[in-house]
Amino acid sequence: MATFDSSTATIPETRQVPRHVAIIMDGNGRWARRRFLPRVAGHKRGVEVLRRVIKTCIEHGIEYLTVFAFSSENWRRPPEEVSFLMNLFVSALSEEVARLHENGIRLKVVGDLSRFEPRLRALIEDGERKTADNRRLTLTVAANYGGRWDILQASNRLAQEQPQKSGAWTEADLAPYLALAYAPEPDLFIRTGGEQRVSNFMIWQLAYTEFYFTDRLWPEFDARTLDAAIASYQKRERRFGRTSEQLREGADVLVPASASRQTHYA
Ligand code: IPE
Ligand code: IPE
Ligand code: MG
Repeated sequence: MATFDSSTATIPETRQVPRHVAIIMDGNGRWARRRFLPRVAGHKRGVEVLRRVIKTCIEHGIEYLTVFAFSSENWRRPPEEVSFLMNLFVSALSEEVARLHENGIRLKVVGDLSRFEPRLRALIEDGERKTADNRRLTLTVAANYGGRWDILQASNRLAQEQPQKSGAWTEADLAPYLALAYAPEPDLFIRTGGEQRVSNFMIWQLAYTEFYFTDRLWPEFDARTLDAAIASYQKRERRFGRTSEQLREGADVLVPASASRQTHYA
């Protein structure tokens, strides 16, 4: 059997606390509109909420947090909103990278970055380089990201680099080329804002992820919402194709989060 990390090829270890949480941060525009504010005020607030959620994830001992910041479809929005989001990304990176680094957080940005302006690309590169050796939490920001883009870019690179294997590729061949190859598959997927869809987010990696939908809008998301999502996750039975009886026979036991993990955030 393959030794790489894939829920469809091997049965992953299941822990009490999800190792990897993936979030679609949705509802910023509606939050602002309800307050008679411009939509972009919701995006601004959304960045502050993300800062707090990162802290809460560390306190829980979560190792990977992946957030959807801008989808490959979001270019369809009004140009003023797109340009506000790009500027917000620039200012958030300029202001936050030092703090992320101080707190032992590794920053990754996944997506088709070629469409971003050079200043933004440089900030992304610097942030990733500076924080590359940190392991307390890996924060991945998906920007101009789409799950289908990811599968296609990985397939194209594989075809280019290993043409001789054409026609007989396996999951293990493709996996290293996927944008999130460095992370285990998400254990828990959260979408705020009431929509119950995946919107082209991590469609490869979500194959066996537990889903949690909440009506709360992203700017209202707080530690209690995350606690509720984790509590719901802890009640799930992750069977990965097996039966409940097989699980009860003790094939897998829940492993508690590592007690040695440092969970303080400055
Ligand atoms: C999510 O909030 C943020 C981005 C897509 C950038 P929305 O902007 O989609 O907010 P709603 O869904 O319109 O309320
Ligand atoms: C998904 O939210 C993308 C992000 C949160 C960045 P959208 O609000 O754009 O999703 P749809 O288009 O309503 O599905
Ligand atoms: Mg939305």
